[in-house]
Amino acid sequence: MPVRDDNFLREHNARHQLHPMIHPLISDQHPPQIIVKGDGVFVTDIDGGTYLDGIGGLWNVNVGHNRPEVKAAIVEQMDKISYYSSFAGTTTGPSIALSAKIMELAAEEDMVKVLFSANGSDAVETALKLARQYWHLVGEPGRYKYISLKQGYHGVHFGGTSINGYVGYRAAYEPLMAGCIQIDSPWTYRNPYTEDPEELADAIVVQLERAIVNQGPGTVAAFIAEPVQGAGGVIVPPASFWPKMRKVLDKYGILLISDEVVTGFGRSGSMFGARGWGVKPDIMCLAKGISAGYIPMGATVLNRRVYEAWTKGVSPMGFIFHGYTSTGHPLGCAAANAVLDIVERENLPENARIQGERLLKGLAGIPSWSSLAGEVRGKGLMVGIDMVADKKTREPIDPGKGQGEMIAAFARDEGVIVRPAGSNIIISPPLTLQAEHVDQIVGALVTAFKRYEDNR
Ligand SMILES: Cc1ncc(COP(=O)(O)O)c(C=O)c1O
Repeated sequence: MPVRDDNFLREHNARHQLHPMIHPLISDQHPPQIIVKGDGVFVTDIDGGTYLDGIGGLWNVNVGHNRPEVKAAIVEQMDKISYYSSFAGTTTGPSIALSAKIMELAAEEDMVKVLFSANGSDAVETALKLARQYWHLVGEPGRYKYISLKQGYHGVHFGGTSINGYVGYRAAYEPLMAGCIQIDSPWTYRNPYTEDPEELADAIVVQLERAIVNQGPGTVAAFIAEPVQGAGGVIVPPASFWPKMRKVLDKYGILLISDEVVTGFGRSGSMFGARGWGVKPDIMCLAKGISAGYIPMGATVLNRRVYEAWTKGVSPMGFIFHGYTSTGHPLGCAAANAVLDIVERENLPENARIQGERLLKGLAGIPSWSSLAGEVRGKGLMVGIDMVADKKTREPIDPGKGQGEMIAAFARDEGVIVRPAGSNIIISPPLTLQAEHVDQIVGALVTAFKRYEDNR
């Protein structure tokens, strides 16, 4: 294989690859920035520019880039064996160690079993399938429907696509799975009901119960949502929302699946996102932060109630006819074991909480003078700036007009990478972020929004 020099890479950038979440003609015209190196919270691109990684890879590089402990763990495992199957009959050490570590970290949630995979989309697909299987095992096979939230994002497999709460993720791939119902998001800034967060929580809880009754409680398998909605615009629910939702789900025996792909392992300021709201899910979907992007990993975790359905004896319906060649991948699990050591040792959930508060405080003033920024919101180190075409009506900007890309480009000129997504700027840096880095992000975004005003 000939060495591909930088000019070759520039010339072929986006020429052959389909990049996710963009039209190929747009990425042809505006090829993506080529990142070549990372160190802690900084990354360097092919032109030698160094930037603070305000996206944390894709809200996953929670322990920062290029950590020697993680690299050493991967190499140590590679020196033994890089891959062996975890299907029936064989397994490897790192996956056993990781399964034990997850149960330790999720003991408070009474989690007892895990099925590994390689991505968040896999973790969601696994959760949806195991939830249906659970109902078969407990003798209610008619429970096959899923309720989810508008604005929710659950990955890209057909299951996740069917429950996704934004039409853009669904439209081109229809027809989707039957029996997927979406209710309104607990989005205080943009809803037709009320500005009062607690009244809004009550309104959505009523919607949930109406949807359950309308569908027939005996047909609903699970409710699935993110503890804090991420890709949909960093939507932080009102304080009482989750406990009230759990109560209604319990009333009808419906499983609660917490999609913790972004919030798992500290990003929202607690080890798991649902824990931050005082709620214990039945199933959790994990990925991203579990291995901090060093090697792809996903995991679906079941609590005691769910797993007990499998313990009544061996039956054909109880076989786990699901799993991936990459399930329990020894390199992914070795990376995850090293990453989770760092998460615990450095208490990254707490750092995310502290630095997240500083970041929110630093950005909070922007909407008071910016014509573009409508609201700044977030929890822990997941923060969003909601951009509006009209401050009064809060009508979101049209993402096609490129204002988000302009803000991101201005921030980049200040040495900070942030992510324009829909009508939001999303900030999701590594959880190892320190106060001076927070201040650098704030400075860059204040300058970016000011430049936007000057160029209007
Ligand atoms: C909440 C949530 N669930 C699932 C996914 C899908 O994860 P992946 O892209 O690893 O398949 C994502 C990705 O951003 C996510 O944010």
